[in-house]
Amino acid sequence: MLSRRVHSHSSQYALEVARRALLLMIVIALIATACGGSGIVLPDDADEELFAGLAVYQQRCAQCHGQTGGGGIGANIQDIESRLTNAEQRDVVVNGRRGPTGQMPAFGQTLSDADIDAVVRFTRDILEPA
Ligand code: HEC
Repeated sequence: MLSRRVHSHSSQYALEVARRALLLMIVIALIATACGGSGIVLPDDADEELFAGLAVYQQRCAQCHGQTGGGGIGANIQDIESRLTNAEQRDVVVNGRRGPTGQMPAFGQTLSDADIDAVVRFTRDILEPA
C-alpha cells in the first residue's frame, strides 16, 4: 500500500515535470519565432522611426526583397545606399520602377510620407550585406 502510494505520487510528479518541460519548449519556440523570424536586430538606441521602418519593411517589402534585403523577386538592397541617393531611392519607392529584373510596385498611394521616410532610412541604415 505504502509503495503504491509512493509510486502514484512519483508518476504524478513525472507528469508535472513533463508538463513543465512542454510549456518551456513552447515558450522557447515562441521566443525563437519572435526574435529569429526576421534575422534583423535593431541597434539598442534605435528610435521610433527605425522601428516603424522595420515594420513597414516586413509587411510591404520583405516578400520581394527578402527578410534581410538579400533579394528574391526584387533586387538585393542590402547595399542600396552605395547605388542610389536618398532622393533617388525615395523616388523608386514612391513611383515604382519597371527594370530589367521586374516591376517594383509604387507605394506613393498606399504608404504615408512618414512611412516612406522610415522604410527608406531603415533599408539604408540597417540592411547590410552579410
Ligand atoms: C512585388 C515585389 C516587390 C515589392 C513588394 C517591393 N519591391 Fe522593391 N523592387 C522590386 C523589383 C522587381 C525591383 C527591381 C526593379 C528594376 O529592375 O529596376 C525593385 C527595386 C527596388 C529598389 C531599387 C533597387 C536598385 O538596386 O536600384 C528599391 C530601393 C526598392 N525596390 C525598395 C523597396 C521597398 C522599400 C519596398 C517596400 C516598401 C519594396 N521595394 C517592395 C520588387 C518589389
